[in-house]
Amino acid sequence: MTRLSVIGTGYLGATHAAGMAELGHQVTGLDVDKEKIDRLQAGEVPFFEPELEQLLQRGLAGGRLTFTTSYEEVAANADVHFVCVGTPQQYGSDAADLRYVEESIGSLARELDRPSLVVGKSTVPAGTAVRLAGRLHEESPAGTDVELAWNPEFLREGYAVQDTLRPDRLVFGVDSASAEQQLREIYAPIIEASCPVVVTDFATAELVKVAANSFLATKISFINAMAEVCETTGADVSMLAEALGHDDRIGRRFLHPGLGFGGGCLPKDIRAFMARAEELGVVQAVAFLREVDAINMRRRARTVDLAVEELGGSTAGAHVAVWGAAFKPNSDDIRDSPALDVATTLQSRGARVVVYDPEAMANARRSYPQLTYADSAVAAATEADLILHLTEWSEFRTLDPAVLEGVVRERRILDGRNALDADRWRASGWSYRALGRR
Ligand code: UDX
Repeated sequence: MTRLSVIGTGYLGATHAAGMAELGHQVTGLDVDKEKIDRLQAGEVPFFEPELEQLLQRGLAGGRLTFTTSYEEVAANADVHFVCVGTPQQYGSDAADLRYVEESIGSLARELDRPSLVVGKSTVPAGTAVRLAGRLHEESPAGTDVELAWNPEFLREGYAVQDTLRPDRLVFGVDSASAEQQLREIYAPIIEASCPVVVTDFATAELVKVAANSFLATKISFINAMAEVCETTGADVSMLAEALGHDDRIGRRFLHPGLGFGGGCLPKDIRAFMARAEELGVVQAVAFLREVDAINMRRRARTVDLAVEELGGSTAGAHVAVWGAAFKPNSDDIRDSPALDVATTLQSRGARVVVYDPEAMANARRSYPQLTYADSAVAAATEADLILHLTEWSEFRTLDPAVLEGVVRERRILDGRNALDADRWRASGWSYRALGRR
């Protein structure tokens, strides 16, 4: 058992804290947001993440998990500190905003008066870790007895618990054998279950994360670029993806064509990578990411164009139902949500847009009060001239089109995620269209 702290209790930190308690460690979670801490301490997860609430409550009930806003307490209670704060896109720039990382390292360093290990998990630009190690040595009372390691996470929202307890790999960026040993002890149950461990330097550990996300974004944009070609050649991108995916070297995963990627990671990580590459003088090496980003954003514009086309060229006064607000299913996260981007664009062009999402309504309402919201998929579709399916929740995929009989004004659906059963909708008398398909 190790005494750990987890600094920053967002999607990543809250899950990591509960996951580490589940492994048997004594964990103190810290956040500067008192309300978030109070909710977590009461056993309530402040966002939607399947399985996390049970894990959190088990940790709290077992006395292995506690939450605080005090760095002093964290330094007193733990020997290893995981930094899990966010690194969002900087306002007005493509670069990552490292403010929260810098603040948390500074606050923690001040309290560290005995040998400790600080483990960075946040996604940061290459070169950050070495600089933070220097800060820890200079600013901690314990000086060089405070060590840094970099241990990126790869968790997906919606599967965060599974990805934390059964990751597909562990990456340890370390500067010493003792740091590696401490990390191996902390993750021992996971390593014993045959999880591969890659031990490397800081720079590689930092890069693994942005390189992985760049690859995933590229794969999605690749199939979406093919969708553009399909639209002009009359080919069918879903069948193309299926046929390509049978090649093991290509694989079917992350080859799902549609409205493209959003969320708090992929878009900002590829942009931050380009910004950092420019600073480092290697911008050409990642110039393709500019196109990856552009292809992705074009899918949103294309969805709006198709919607306008479906509405006969005029959005003014048209009633559009939008199914989905979260950036992907099984999440209530609306950061850079393609669905809400399309919804607000159509609304700004004069359509009356009514949105429904199974989990992301509260977040959407807070950030986009100008949109109208309904309590169910059917309610959103009332009097609709067009339904836009923009986040592929299973609730939408399994919905029987017959329940919309007499509800909508026009039986027209645009499947922005290529996830509905086209034959079923057409058999019910609907005009079904999808991105990249006939
Ligand atoms: C991503 C990475 O997958 C994860 O490893 C990393 O730690 C954080 O960033 P996440 O943002 O939770 O995770 O979502 P992910 O499942 O990767 O989906 C990202 C976006 O791509 C979503 O908007 C999703 O709808 C879209 N997507 C995904 C596609 O459009 N097509 C696909 O084939 C896959």
